[in-house]
Amino acid sequence: MAYWNWDPSYELGINVIDNQHKKLVQYINELQAALTTKDRDKIASVLVGVTSYTLSHFAFEEQLMAEAGYAMAGPHKKVHESFIATINRYKSSFDEGYNITGQLMAELQIWLTHHIVHDDIDYKECVQKMLEKKDTHSIEMRAESKKKGWFQTLFG
Ligand SMILES: [Fe+2]
Repeated sequence: MAYWNWDPSYELGINVIDNQHKKLVQYINELQAALTTKDRDKIASVLVGVTSYTLSHFAFEEQLMAEAGYAMAGPHKKVHESFIATINRYKSSFDEGYNITGQLMAELQIWLTHHIVHDDIDYKECVQKMLEKKDTHSIEMRAESKKKGWFQTLFG
């Protein structure tokens, strides 16, 4: 049984983000499984995976918030940065030979849940509107090029 199960209450309703959050939960489960093996190489490789996935997820979210013109994008980015600093601190302690098992798992789980249901939910409406507009625009573009036919689209 997984250490941490995804709960529908974590869903924002933005598929691409929900899938990335699910992946983070999956990573935390992988980390828990690696920690129980006490295999330092295995733990180290999962830690690298969790850190790099978290970084790219945060960068993705930050890009969406900026594109959407979300007013709290700056403070949200600061929260991301402070979390990255926390993960890096754990990673350094691990590299120095400390046992980070219990604290790291608890902190990751509490932080992620809190962040999703309190901070991420706040950008939902703004980002959703931007994505819908983008979608409508690309549908219109496709319809327009279909109407014109390939010759007119290319040479018209
Ligand atoms: Fe976030």
